[in-house]
Amino acid sequence: MGVTENSLSPTSITDNLETHFVGQRVIYYPSLTSTMEVARREAQRGAAEGTVIIADEQTVGRGRVRRIWLSPRGNIALSIILYPSIVYLPSLIMLASLAVVYSIESVTGLKAQLKWPNDVLISGRKVCGILIESDVRGGRVDYAIIGIGINVNLRLADFPEFSPVATSLSGELGREVPLIEVIRRLLVEVERLYLALPSGESIYQQWRDRLITLGRKVEVRWGKTIYTGVAESVAGDGSLLLRRSDGSLTKIVAGDVTLRDYK
Ligand code: BTN
Repeated sequence: MGVTENSLSPTSITDNLETHFVGQRVIYYPSLTSTMEVARREAQRGAAEGTVIIADEQTVGRGRVRRIWLSPRGNIALSIILYPSIVYLPSLIMLASLAVVYSIESVTGLKAQLKWPNDVLISGRKVCGILIESDVRGGRVDYAIIGIGINVNLRLADFPEFSPVATSLSGELGREVPLIEVIRRLLVEVERLYLALPSGESIYQQWRDRLITLGRKVEVRWGKTIYTGVAESVAGDGSLLLRRSDGSLTKIVAGDVTLRDYK
């Protein structure tokens, strides 16, 4: 693969990009602490909806529950600024997860799955993490930021600090993957699914159908609390419905799932 095919620049993303607003403005950094930080600043200043902050590498990438997210060069680290109505806020995690799944599948042909709430897996190993941050005031969303990190061209053997349950697109395919093509496809999918929200297209249904968590015995950790049971279903607001051994149903809004019956 030639260097140019994987060298990021705003125009390599925006040129003839088939979207109306997502990715039409791109702010690019070769290296950055976290795209979430810059996105928040830009959103507070009223950046255009769909503005994308992207970096070749992040030095202090943020994961869920205050974890560090490693994003060396060759991976995708980007944040997208949106101004949705509050009713669509719970759908953002669903649409972001689906956009990642669809873009990975269309560019690489690999089959991707979802683990509740927002991990994208290939062959049971994590290839992407998604972080949503929003500011809600007086019942109105001031801004929402979708942060997406995808392990694209990463030889995991060179990065022992990556979790043993992680994978990358190049690792799965055994060849380098056109980074810019994945980014452009991802932006198109995000916009398509975002614009479909008011039409009632069932993002929820598509998301639920992709969750490998459902029907499985799981352990869910949230802070110091651990819940065990069978992941029975997900509610329309994205929360997990866990059937406990005593027959009761617990609604869990956030947490880390371990599949207990995973082989
Ligand atoms: C997770 O913990 O699974 C979520 C990881 C989210 C990582 C992305 S990379 C782009 C954006 N910038 C960050 O600092 N985090 C998100």
